Amino acid sequence: MPAIVLVGAQWGDEGKGKATDLMGSAVDYVVKFNGGNNAGHTVVIEGEDGRREKYALHLLPSGILSPNVVPVIGNGVVIDLEVLFRELDDLAARGVDTSRLVISANAHVIAPYNRTLDKVTERFLGKRKIGTTGRGIGPTYADKMNRIGIRIQDLFDEHILRQKVEAALAFKNQVLAKIYNTRAVNADAVVAELLSYAARLRPMVRDTSLELERALAAGKNVLLEAGQATLLDVDHGTYPFVTSSSATAGGACTGSGIPPTRVARVIAILKAYTTRVGEGPFPTELFDDAGEQLRKVGVEYGTTTGRPRRCGWLDTVIGRYATRINGVTDFVVTKLDVLTGFEQVPICVAYEVDGVRFDEMPVNQSDFHHAKPIYEWLPGWWEDISGCRTFEDLPANAQAYVLRVEELIGARISAIGVGPGRHEIIERHSLLP
Ligand code: GDP
Ligand code: IMO
Ligand code: MG
Repeated sequence: MPAIVLVGAQWGDEGKGKATDLMGSAVDYVVKFNGGNNAGHTVVIEGEDGRREKYALHLLPSGILSPNVVPVIGNGVVIDLEVLFRELDDLAARGVDTSRLVISANAHVIAPYNRTLDKVTERFLGKRKIGTTGRGIGPTYADKMNRIGIRIQDLFDEHILRQKVEAALAFKNQVLAKIYNTRAVNADAVVAELLSYAARLRPMVRDTSLELERALAAGKNVLLEAGQATLLDVDHGTYPFVTSSSATAGGACTGSGIPPTRVARVIAILKAYTTRVGEGPFPTELFDDAGEQLRKVGVEYGTTTGRPRRCGWLDTVIGRYATRINGVTDFVVTKLDVLTGFEQVPICVAYEVDGVRFDEMPVNQSDFHHAKPIYEWLPGWWEDISGCRTFEDLPANAQAYVLRVEELIGARISAIGVGPGRHEIIERHSLLP
Protein backbone atom coordinates (compact mmCIF):
# COMPACT_ATOMS: atom_id res chain seq x y z
CA MET A 1 0.00 0.00 0.00
CA PRO A 2 1.20 3.51 -0.64
CA ALA A 3 2.26 6.27 1.65
CA ILE A 4 0.34 9.55 1.67
CA VAL A 5 2.04 12.84 2.48
CA LEU A 6 0.17 15.74 4.07
CA VAL A 7 1.76 19.21 4.10
CA GLY A 8 0.85 22.82 4.78
CA ALA A 9 0.72 25.01 1.67
CA GLN A 10 1.30 28.42 3.28
CA TRP A 11 2.97 29.60 6.51
CA GLY A 12 1.47 27.01 8.84
CA ASP A 13 -1.77 26.71 10.84
CA GLU A 14 -3.76 25.76 7.76
CA GLY A 15 -5.65 23.09 9.73
CA LYS A 16 -3.33 20.13 9.10
CA GLY A 17 -4.30 18.60 12.43
CA LYS A 18 -7.95 18.49 11.48
CA ALA A 19 -7.19 16.99 8.06
CA THR A 20 -5.02 14.26 9.61
CA ASP A 21 -7.67 13.55 12.18
CA LEU A 22 -10.28 13.29 9.44
CA MET A 23 -8.23 10.63 7.64
CA GLY A 24 -7.22 9.02 10.91
CA SER A 25 -9.87 6.33 10.91
CA ALA A 26 -8.83 5.17 7.43
CA VAL A 27 -5.06 5.03 7.91
CA ASP A 28 -2.99 2.64 9.99
CA TYR A 29 0.05 4.80 10.78
CA VAL A 30 0.43 8.58 11.18
CA VAL A 31 4.03 9.74 11.13
CA LYS A 32 5.29 13.15 12.20
CA PHE A 33 8.44 13.61 10.14
CA ASN A 34 9.78 17.11 10.92
CA GLY A 35 9.77 19.90 13.46
CA GLY A 36 9.00 19.56 17.14
CA ASN A 37 6.83 21.33 19.67
CA ASN A 38 6.94 24.53 17.61
CA ALA A 39 3.90 23.04 15.88
CA GLY A 40 0.43 23.52 17.28
CA HIS A 41 -2.50 21.53 15.98
CA THR A 42 -5.98 22.14 17.31
CA VAL A 43 -8.46 19.35 16.73
CA VAL A 44 -12.11 19.65 17.70
CA ILE A 45 -13.99 16.41 18.19
CA GLU A 46 -17.71 16.04 18.82
CA GLY A 47 -18.41 13.46 21.50
CA GLU A 48 -21.39 11.10 21.37
CA ASP A 49 -23.38 13.50 23.57
CA GLY A 50 -22.73 16.24 20.97
CA ARG A 51 -20.31 18.09 23.25
CA ARG A 52 -17.19 19.49 21.60
CA GLU A 53 -13.81 18.41 22.93
CA LYS A 54 -10.84 20.52 21.92
CA TYR A 55 -7.32 19.04 21.81
CA ALA A 56 -4.15 21.09 21.30
CA LEU A 57 -1.22 18.94 20.20
CA HIS A 58 2.34 20.16 19.79
CA LEU A 59 4.72 17.26 19.59
CA LEU A 60 2.48 14.25 19.18
CA PRO A 61 1.15 13.38 15.72
CA SER A 62 -2.55 14.27 15.39
CA GLY A 63 -3.20 10.61 14.61
CA ILE A 64 -2.88 9.91 18.32
CA LEU A 65 -6.55 10.86 18.69
CA SER A 66 -7.73 8.05 16.39
CA PRO A 67 -8.16 4.77 18.26
CA ASN A 68 -6.78 2.41 15.62
CA VAL A 69 -3.83 4.45 14.39
CA VAL A 70 -0.20 3.81 15.33
CA PRO A 71 1.29 7.28 15.88
CA VAL A 72 4.98 7.55 14.98
CA ILE A 73 7.55 10.23 15.75
CA GLY A 74 10.06 9.90 12.92
CA ASN A 75 13.80 10.44 12.79
CA GLY A 76 13.36 13.94 11.32
CA VAL A 77 11.67 15.27 14.46
CA VAL A 78 13.35 17.06 17.37
CA ILE A 79 11.92 16.01 20.73
CA ASP A 80 11.59 17.96 23.95
CA LEU A 81 11.17 15.06 26.38
CA GLU A 82 9.52 17.11 29.08
CA VAL A 83 6.88 18.22 26.57
CA LEU A 84 6.49 14.69 25.23
CA PHE A 85 5.60 13.22 28.60
CA ARG A 86 3.47 16.17 29.63
CA GLU A 87 1.45 15.84 26.44
CA LEU A 88 1.10 12.07 26.90
CA ASP A 89 -0.01 12.53 30.52
CA ASP A 90 -2.51 15.24 29.60
CA LEU A 91 -4.08 13.03 26.93
CA ALA A 92 -4.14 10.02 29.23
CA ALA A 93 -5.92 12.14 31.86
CA ARG A 94 -8.60 12.87 29.26
CA GLY A 95 -9.04 9.19 28.49
CA VAL A 96 -7.03 9.02 25.26
CA ASP A 97 -5.11 5.76 24.81
CA THR A 98 -1.53 6.75 23.96
CA SER A 99 0.09 3.36 24.40
CA ARG A 100 0.65 2.74 20.68
CA LEU A 101 3.11 5.62 20.22
CA VAL A 102 6.48 4.68 18.70
CA ILE A 103 9.53 6.91 18.48
CA SER A 104 12.54 6.72 16.18
CA ALA A 105 15.86 5.88 17.86
CA ASN A 106 17.42 8.41 15.48
CA ALA A 107 15.26 11.40 16.37
CA HIS A 108 17.17 14.22 18.05
CA VAL A 109 16.56 15.53 21.54
CA ILE A 110 16.04 19.21 22.33
CA ALA A 111 18.59 19.64 25.11
CA PRO A 112 17.76 22.27 27.72
CA TYR A 113 20.69 24.47 26.63
CA ASN A 114 19.17 24.72 23.14
CA ARG A 115 15.99 26.19 24.53
CA THR A 116 18.13 28.80 26.26
CA LEU A 117 20.14 29.46 23.10
CA ASP A 118 17.01 29.92 20.99
CA LYS A 119 15.76 32.64 23.32
CA VAL A 120 19.05 34.49 23.81
CA THR A 121 19.80 34.40 20.07
CA GLU A 122 16.46 36.05 19.33
CA ARG A 123 17.13 38.71 21.94
CA PHE A 124 20.58 39.27 20.47
CA LEU A 125 19.17 39.68 16.94
CA GLY A 126 16.94 42.53 18.16
CA LYS A 127 14.87 43.88 15.28
CA ARG A 128 16.42 41.33 12.91
CA LYS A 129 14.86 38.50 14.94
CA ILE A 130 13.00 35.60 13.27
CA GLY A 131 10.16 35.54 15.80
CA THR A 132 10.77 31.88 16.67
CA THR A 133 8.59 29.93 19.04
CA GLY A 134 11.50 29.83 21.51
CA ARG A 135 11.33 26.06 21.82
CA GLY A 136 14.97 25.36 20.89
CA ILE A 137 14.13 24.11 17.40
CA GLY A 138 16.78 26.03 15.41
CA PRO A 139 19.74 25.31 17.72
CA THR A 140 18.81 21.61 17.91
CA TYR A 141 18.73 21.21 14.11
CA ALA A 142 21.97 23.22 13.94
CA ASP A 143 23.55 20.70 16.32
CA LYS A 144 22.29 17.85 14.17
CA MET A 145 23.97 19.33 11.09
CA ASN A 146 27.02 20.21 13.14
CA ARG A 147 27.19 16.59 14.30
CA ILE A 148 27.04 17.48 17.97
CA GLY A 149 23.38 16.55 18.47
CA ILE A 150 21.99 14.18 21.10
CA ARG A 151 19.83 11.38 19.72
CA ILE A 152 17.12 9.36 21.46
CA GLN A 153 19.30 6.24 21.35
CA ASP A 154 22.07 8.07 23.25
CA LEU A 155 19.85 8.14 26.33
CA PHE A 156 20.25 4.41 26.79
CA ASP A 157 24.01 4.53 27.32
CA GLU A 158 25.05 6.87 30.12
CA HIS A 159 28.69 6.83 29.10
CA ILE A 160 27.98 7.87 25.52
CA LEU A 161 25.37 10.41 26.62
CA ARG A 162 27.83 12.08 28.98
CA GLN A 163 30.51 12.20 26.28
CA LYS A 164 28.12 13.81 23.82
CA VAL A 165 26.71 16.35 26.26
CA GLU A 166 30.23 17.34 27.36
CA ALA A 167 31.37 17.69 23.75
CA ALA A 168 28.39 19.88 22.88
CA LEU A 169 28.79 22.01 26.02
CA ALA A 170 32.52 22.50 25.48
CA PHE A 171 31.45 24.63 22.54
CA LYS A 172 28.06 25.90 23.66
CA ASN A 173 29.23 27.17 27.02
CA GLN A 174 31.77 29.37 25.27
CA VAL A 175 29.00 30.84 23.17
CA LEU A 176 26.64 31.25 26.12
CA ALA A 177 29.21 32.88 28.37
CA LYS A 178 31.34 34.88 25.95
CA ILE A 179 28.84 35.99 23.32
CA TYR A 180 25.56 36.09 25.17
CA ASN A 181 26.94 36.85 28.58
CA THR A 182 24.76 34.20 30.24
CA ARG A 183 25.55 31.48 32.75
CA ALA A 184 27.40 28.38 31.55
CA VAL A 185 25.44 25.11 31.69
CA ASN A 186 26.46 22.24 33.95
CA ALA A 187 26.90 18.95 32.04
CA ASP A 188 25.98 16.75 35.03
CA ALA A 189 22.63 18.46 35.41
CA VAL A 190 21.84 18.01 31.70
CA VAL A 191 22.84 14.33 31.76
CA ALA A 192 20.76 13.73 34.89
CA GLU A 193 17.73 15.44 33.38
CA LEU A 194 17.92 13.46 30.12
CA LEU A 195 18.55 10.16 31.92
CA SER A 196 15.50 10.67 34.08
CA TYR A 197 13.33 10.09 30.98
CA ALA A 198 15.17 7.02 29.68
CA ALA A 199 13.27 4.21 31.41
CA ARG A 200 9.86 5.55 30.42
CA LEU A 201 11.03 6.20 26.88
CA ARG A 202 12.67 2.88 26.21
CA PRO A 203 9.64 0.72 25.33
CA MET A 204 8.50 3.27 22.73
CA VAL A 205 11.77 3.44 20.83
CA ARG A 206 12.21 1.52 17.55
CA ASP A 207 13.79 1.45 14.15
CA THR A 208 10.75 3.26 12.78
CA SER A 209 11.99 3.22 9.17
CA LEU A 210 12.06 -0.58 9.25
CA GLU A 211 8.72 -0.80 11.01
CA LEU A 212 7.09 1.49 8.44
CA GLU A 213 8.57 -0.39 5.49
CA ARG A 214 7.16 -3.62 6.91
CA ALA A 215 3.79 -1.98 7.39
CA LEU A 216 3.76 -0.74 3.77
CA ALA A 217 4.80 -4.17 2.50
CA ALA A 218 1.92 -5.67 4.49
CA GLY A 219 -0.55 -3.37 2.73
CA LYS A 220 -1.06 -0.80 5.50
CA ASN A 221 -1.84 2.88 4.84
CA VAL A 222 0.81 5.26 6.14
CA LEU A 223 0.15 9.00 6.46
CA LEU A 224 3.20 11.27 6.73
CA GLU A 225 2.12 14.47 8.49
CA ALA A 226 4.19 17.65 8.22
CA GLY A 227 4.56 20.24 10.91
CA GLN A 228 4.91 23.85 9.70
CA ALA A 229 4.48 24.43 5.97
CA THR A 230 5.91 25.06 2.50
CA LEU A 231 6.95 28.67 3.08
CA LEU A 232 8.51 27.81 6.45
CA ASP A 233 10.67 25.07 4.88
CA VAL A 234 14.37 25.73 5.43
CA ASP A 235 15.15 25.26 1.71
CA HIS A 236 12.00 26.34 -0.08
CA GLY A 237 10.50 28.86 2.33
CA THR A 238 11.00 32.57 2.85
CA TYR A 239 14.52 32.16 4.21
CA PRO A 240 15.72 33.28 6.76
CA PHE A 241 12.16 33.71 8.10
CA VAL A 242 11.59 29.97 8.20
CA THR A 243 11.82 27.10 10.60
CA SER A 244 14.89 24.85 10.58
CA SER A 245 13.48 21.65 9.10
CA SER A 246 12.22 20.28 5.78
CA ALA A 247 8.47 20.81 5.95
CA THR A 248 7.75 20.04 2.28
CA ALA A 249 6.94 16.67 0.70
CA GLY A 250 10.62 15.85 0.10
CA GLY A 251 11.22 16.06 3.85
CA ALA A 252 8.64 13.34 4.41
CA CYS A 253 11.06 10.75 3.01
CA THR A 254 14.23 11.89 4.78
CA GLY A 255 12.32 12.51 7.98
CA SER A 256 10.74 9.07 8.12
CA GLY A 257 13.04 6.74 6.20
CA ILE A 258 10.33 5.89 3.64
CA PRO A 259 11.60 5.96 0.03
CA PRO A 260 10.03 8.39 -2.50
CA THR A 261 8.84 5.45 -4.63
CA ARG A 262 6.37 4.57 -1.85
CA VAL A 263 4.60 7.94 -1.93
CA ALA A 264 1.44 7.84 -4.04
CA ARG A 265 -0.36 10.95 -2.97
CA VAL A 266 0.51 14.41 -1.67
CA ILE A 267 -2.25 16.34 0.04
CA ALA A 268 -1.70 20.02 0.78
CA ILE A 269 -3.78 22.00 3.23
CA LEU A 270 -4.60 25.52 2.06
CA LYS A 271 -6.42 27.99 4.26
CA ALA A 272 -9.03 30.00 2.30
CA TYR A 273 -7.05 33.12 3.30
CA THR A 274 -3.48 33.54 4.58
CA THR A 275 -1.91 33.79 8.05
CA ARG A 276 1.60 34.03 9.34
CA VAL A 277 3.13 34.03 12.84
CA GLY A 278 6.52 35.60 13.47
CA GLU A 279 8.51 37.93 11.25
CA GLY A 280 9.07 37.95 7.49
CA PRO A 281 7.50 39.10 4.22
CA PHE A 282 3.76 38.61 3.57
CA PRO A 283 2.49 40.31 0.39
CA THR A 284 -1.28 40.01 1.01
CA GLU A 285 -1.13 41.01 4.69
CA LEU A 286 -4.01 43.24 5.82
CA PHE A 287 -3.75 46.02 8.38
CA ASP A 288 -7.38 47.12 8.18
CA ASP A 289 -10.80 46.01 9.43
CA ALA A 290 -10.86 43.10 6.98
CA GLY A 291 -7.67 41.70 8.57
CA GLU A 292 -9.19 42.16 12.01
CA GLN A 293 -12.35 40.34 10.90
CA LEU A 294 -10.31 37.39 9.60
CA ARG A 295 -8.39 37.21 12.89
CA LYS A 296 -11.56 37.40 15.00
CA VAL A 297 -13.80 35.09 13.02
CA GLY A 298 -10.98 32.65 12.25
CA VAL A 299 -9.71 32.78 15.88
CA GLU A 300 -6.22 33.40 14.53
CA TYR A 301 -4.12 33.23 17.67
CA GLY A 302 -1.16 30.84 17.85
CA THR A 303 -1.81 27.42 19.39
CA THR A 304 1.78 27.31 20.66
CA THR A 305 2.66 30.83 21.71
CA GLY A 306 -0.73 32.54 21.77
CA ARG A 307 0.58 35.30 19.51
CA PRO A 308 -2.04 36.97 17.27
CA ARG A 309 -1.50 35.68 13.74
CA ARG A 310 -0.95 38.16 10.92
CA CYS A 311 -3.85 37.83 8.46
CA GLY A 312 -4.39 38.52 4.76
CA TRP A 313 -6.22 37.43 1.62
CA LEU A 314 -5.57 34.20 -0.21
CA ASP A 315 -2.41 34.20 -2.31
CA THR A 316 -2.56 31.76 -5.22
CA VAL A 317 1.02 32.50 -6.31
CA ILE A 318 1.91 30.72 -3.06
CA GLY A 319 -0.69 28.02 -3.79
CA ARG A 320 0.85 27.34 -7.22
CA TYR A 321 4.30 27.27 -5.67
CA ALA A 322 3.13 24.74 -3.08
CA THR A 323 1.68 22.59 -5.89
CA ARG A 324 5.02 22.59 -7.69
CA ILE A 325 7.38 22.11 -4.75
CA ASN A 326 5.32 19.34 -3.15
CA GLY A 327 3.86 17.69 -6.25
CA VAL A 328 0.41 18.18 -4.76
CA THR A 329 -2.23 15.74 -6.01
CA ASP A 330 -5.07 17.04 -3.80
CA PHE A 331 -5.79 20.19 -1.86
CA VAL A 332 -7.93 20.53 1.22
CA VAL A 333 -9.16 24.13 1.48
CA THR A 334 -9.93 24.96 5.11
CA LYS A 335 -11.86 27.73 6.84
CA LEU A 336 -13.98 28.75 3.87
CA ASP A 337 -16.63 29.64 6.49
CA VAL A 338 -14.39 32.45 7.77
CA LEU A 339 -14.80 34.26 4.43
CA THR A 340 -18.58 34.43 4.90
CA GLY A 341 -19.90 37.97 5.20
CA PHE A 342 -17.40 39.87 3.08
CA GLU A 343 -18.85 42.03 0.28
CA GLN A 344 -16.03 40.89 -1.97
CA VAL A 345 -13.38 38.19 -1.59
CA PRO A 346 -10.16 39.06 -3.35
CA ILE A 347 -7.72 36.43 -4.64
CA CYS A 348 -4.11 37.37 -5.24
CA VAL A 349 -3.26 35.98 -8.70
CA ALA A 350 0.19 37.51 -9.30
CA TYR A 351 2.60 40.14 -7.93
CA GLU A 352 3.89 43.42 -9.17
CA VAL A 353 7.48 44.14 -8.25
CA ASP A 354 8.83 47.53 -9.29
CA GLY A 355 6.58 47.65 -12.35
CA VAL A 356 7.21 44.03 -13.39
CA ARG A 357 4.53 41.32 -13.19
CA PHE A 358 5.46 38.03 -11.48
CA ASP A 359 3.14 35.06 -12.01
CA GLU A 360 5.46 32.75 -10.06
CA MET A 361 7.23 33.15 -6.70
CA PRO A 362 10.21 35.48 -7.23
CA VAL A 363 13.44 33.58 -6.57
CA ASN A 364 15.07 36.72 -5.22
CA GLN A 365 14.19 37.44 -1.61
CA SER A 366 14.17 41.22 -1.97
CA ASP A 367 11.70 40.94 -4.85
CA PHE A 368 9.37 38.97 -2.58
CA HIS A 369 9.78 41.62 0.14
CA HIS A 370 8.66 44.27 -2.37
CA ALA A 371 5.91 42.22 -4.02
CA LYS A 372 2.54 44.00 -4.32
CA PRO A 373 -0.45 41.70 -4.77
CA ILE A 374 -2.49 41.85 -7.98
CA TYR A 375 -6.05 40.92 -7.01
CA GLU A 376 -9.05 39.48 -8.74
CA TRP A 377 -12.18 40.57 -6.85
CA LEU A 378 -14.91 37.95 -6.55
CA PRO A 379 -18.37 38.61 -5.08
CA GLY A 380 -18.89 37.38 -1.51
CA TRP A 381 -21.70 35.46 0.20
CA TRP A 382 -23.67 35.87 3.44
CA GLU A 383 -25.21 32.46 4.07
CA ASP A 384 -23.97 30.34 7.00
CA ILE A 385 -22.13 27.50 5.24
CA SER A 386 -21.17 25.42 8.29
CA GLY A 387 -24.00 22.95 7.61
CA CYS A 388 -23.03 22.38 3.95
CA ARG A 389 -21.89 18.80 3.26
CA THR A 390 -21.84 18.75 -0.54
CA PHE A 391 -20.31 21.22 -2.96
CA GLU A 392 -23.75 21.96 -4.36
CA ASP A 393 -24.94 22.99 -0.86
CA LEU A 394 -22.56 25.98 -0.98
CA PRO A 395 -23.87 29.38 -2.14
CA ALA A 396 -23.09 30.01 -5.82
CA ASN A 397 -20.50 32.69 -5.01
CA ALA A 398 -18.65 30.38 -2.61
CA GLN A 399 -18.64 27.67 -5.29
CA ALA A 400 -17.26 30.16 -7.81
CA TYR A 401 -14.52 31.17 -5.36
CA VAL A 402 -13.42 27.55 -4.85
CA LEU A 403 -13.47 26.79 -8.58
CA ARG A 404 -11.41 29.88 -9.42
CA VAL A 405 -8.87 29.01 -6.71
CA GLU A 406 -8.65 25.46 -8.04
CA GLU A 407 -7.93 26.78 -11.51
CA LEU A 408 -5.22 29.12 -10.22
CA ILE A 409 -3.36 26.65 -8.00
CA GLY A 410 -3.29 23.90 -10.58
CA ALA A 411 -4.41 20.87 -8.56
CA ARG A 412 -7.86 19.64 -7.61
CA ILE A 413 -9.56 20.73 -4.41
CA SER A 414 -10.78 17.48 -2.91
CA ALA A 415 -12.18 18.70 0.39
CA ILE A 416 -13.42 21.98 1.84
CA GLY A 417 -13.54 22.87 5.54
CA VAL A 418 -16.65 24.76 6.64
CA GLY A 419 -16.10 24.76 10.41
CA PRO A 420 -13.66 23.56 13.09
CA GLY A 421 -15.54 20.34 13.96
CA ARG A 422 -14.41 16.93 12.74
CA HIS A 423 -17.44 16.56 10.47
CA GLU A 424 -17.64 20.15 9.22
CA ILE A 425 -16.16 19.30 5.85
CA ILE A 426 -17.26 18.80 2.26
CA GLU A 427 -15.58 15.90 0.50
CA ARG A 428 -15.53 16.18 -3.29
CA HIS A 429 -13.05 13.36 -3.91
CA SER A 430 -11.82 10.70 -1.53
CA LEU A 431 -8.44 11.53 -0.01
CA LEU A 432 -7.50 7.88 0.29
CA PRO A 433 -5.67 5.88 -2.37
P1 GDP B 1 -2.29 23.25 11.97
O1 GDP B 1 -1.11 23.81 12.66
O2 GDP B 1 -2.16 23.28 10.47
O3 GDP B 1 -2.71 21.90 12.47
O4 GDP B 1 -3.50 24.25 12.27
P2 GDP B 1 -3.89 24.93 13.70
O5 GDP B 1 -4.58 23.91 14.53
O6 GDP B 1 -2.74 25.66 14.28
O7 GDP B 1 -4.90 26.05 13.21
C1 GDP B 1 -6.06 25.72 12.49
C2 GDP B 1 -7.30 26.16 13.31
O8 GDP B 1 -8.40 26.20 12.44
C3 GDP B 1 -7.68 25.21 14.41
O9 GDP B 1 -8.15 25.98 15.50
C4 GDP B 1 -8.81 24.38 13.82
O10 GDP B 1 -9.74 23.92 14.79
C5 GDP B 1 -9.45 25.38 12.91
N1 GDP B 1 -10.08 24.84 11.71
C6 GDP B 1 -9.65 23.82 10.90
N2 GDP B 1 -10.47 23.71 9.84
C7 GDP B 1 -11.42 24.66 9.95
C8 GDP B 1 -12.52 25.09 9.14
O11 GDP B 1 -12.79 24.57 8.07
N3 GDP B 1 -13.25 26.16 9.61
C9 GDP B 1 -12.96 26.79 10.78
N4 GDP B 1 -13.71 27.83 11.15
N5 GDP B 1 -11.93 26.42 11.55
C10 GDP B 1 -11.16 25.40 11.14
P1 IMO C 1 2.19 24.44 12.65
O1 IMO C 1 2.65 23.02 12.52
C1 IMO C 1 3.07 28.71 12.24
C2 IMO C 1 7.26 29.90 12.70
C3 IMO C 1 7.58 30.76 13.91
C4 IMO C 1 8.74 31.56 13.35
C5 IMO C 1 9.47 30.56 12.47
C6 IMO C 1 10.66 29.90 13.14
O2 IMO C 1 1.27 24.70 13.79
O3 IMO C 1 1.68 24.95 11.34
P2 IMO C 1 10.91 28.07 15.05
O4 IMO C 1 10.48 28.11 16.48
O5 IMO C 1 10.34 26.96 14.26
O6 IMO C 1 12.40 28.17 14.89
O7 IMO C 1 10.33 29.45 14.44
O8 IMO C 1 8.52 29.56 12.14
N1 IMO C 1 6.58 28.64 13.01
C7 IMO C 1 5.27 28.43 12.80
N2 IMO C 1 4.30 29.25 12.36
N3 IMO C 1 2.78 27.42 12.51
C8 IMO C 1 3.75 26.56 12.92
O9 IMO C 1 3.55 25.24 13.06
C9 IMO C 1 5.05 27.06 13.12
N4 IMO C 1 6.22 26.51 13.54
C10 IMO C 1 7.14 27.49 13.45
O10 IMO C 1 6.49 31.56 14.27
O11 IMO C 1 8.26 32.59 12.51
MG1 MG D 1 -0.61 25.27 14.11
